[in-house]
Amino acid sequence: MNIKEIAPDILYVGVNDRTTTRFEGLWPLPIGVSYNSYLVKDSRTALIDTVEAADALGLIENIRNSAGVEKIDYLVVNHMEPDHSGSIPLLATAFPEMKIIGNRQTISMIKGFYHISDDSRFIEVKDNDVIELGEKTLRFFLTPMVHWPETMMTFVEERSVLFTGDAFGTFGALAGGVVDYEMDTEPYISEMYRYYSNIVGKYGRFVQNALARLSGIKADFICPTHGPVWHDEIARVGKIVSDLSLYTPEEGVTIVYGSMYGNTAHVAEMIASALAERGVRKIKIHNASFSEMSYMINDAFRYKGLIVGGPTYSMTLFPPVAQFMEAMATREIKNKVFATFGSHAWAPVNGKRLAEYAEAMKLDVTAHVEVKQSADEATREAVAKLADEFVARL
Ligand code: FEO
Repeated sequence: MNIKEIAPDILYVGVNDRTTTRFEGLWPLPIGVSYNSYLVKDSRTALIDTVEAADALGLIENIRNSAGVEKIDYLVVNHMEPDHSGSIPLLATAFPEMKIIGNRQTISMIKGFYHISDDSRFIEVKDNDVIELGEKTLRFFLTPMVHWPETMMTFVEERSVLFTGDAFGTFGALAGGVVDYEMDTEPYISEMYRYYSNIVGKYGRFVQNALARLSGIKADFICPTHGPVWHDEIARVGKIVSDLSLYTPEEGVTIVYGSMYGNTAHVAEMIASALAERGVRKIKIHNASFSEMSYMINDAFRYKGLIVGGPTYSMTLFPPVAQFMEAMATREIKNKVFATFGSHAWAPVNGKRLAEYAEAMKLDVTAHVEVKQSADEATREAVAKLADEFVARL
């Protein structure tokens, strides 16, 4: 049970998940994840978003244990991904008088996912519509593609509380505290980068649209669907999300490589040493056969330099490296100082494939170091040249 009053009549009633190992079946959850749900109490009470289906009973228990809440009049669905909508069928049964508020796409998705077909249960809203709860007003902002097409945000005007869906969310189950001033936020800030880059990374321009849409809103509390409620650190997380959505990088270099017998790995180590000798202090190295894709995406998204290497394998690029480049292309990665390297036994197809990825992604390749069979003195000279040119562009 984790009930917390955030502001007068605004309650956190979400749940923690410390058992799911991979979010969306893909992304590791070493410190869990929270599914945040909120109550806005008034003469009519609204629930803002629900939780994963497996945690529905925990949410209902939290609602039942919230002082002064006898029934739910409205369920506002800001986002339909099942980690937030999975409890809708059970909620709809537990609170038969509850009306479900969403936009046209939300309602269509609820019908599709959960087969709730009774139109009298739905209230459709458009951008900037309001619903009065009594003394408090809910105002709705449509913010498509942050992270799905139906996503919207809800603002409680009289309390300056903004419910933002996935925006400003992080991995990490809550550990006692709910609002940022009640906790050490550093683990969540770190997980915010991974959450954004892994999940929302493709939709930067839509995040920018949403931020522009919210520019006139003065929110005292930002309540996302995952992770802490933000109050003291709104400016900090706002800058992080804005920078990430603009692909504005931080200082540092990420090296991602794959290697079968150590020859490409050798070049990766040579490049890292050469960068360090030239003053680069933050260098992240990932062996794509062993590192989690989630963390490779995180670092590649975050840091300004990206160097990718792999050998030829079955007349194409080594599969784990190709998979990483696909992940980069999917997220439309940009604003990188980029270079490549690799090795081959008899056919230098790897370099061609890396060049094709770079061209498709409009990444300018600073240099490519190619090794036939194993590194030699010429490789050392080529690495030194790559490092000189790379560092000059960082
Ligand atoms: Fe947390 Fe896009 O769902």
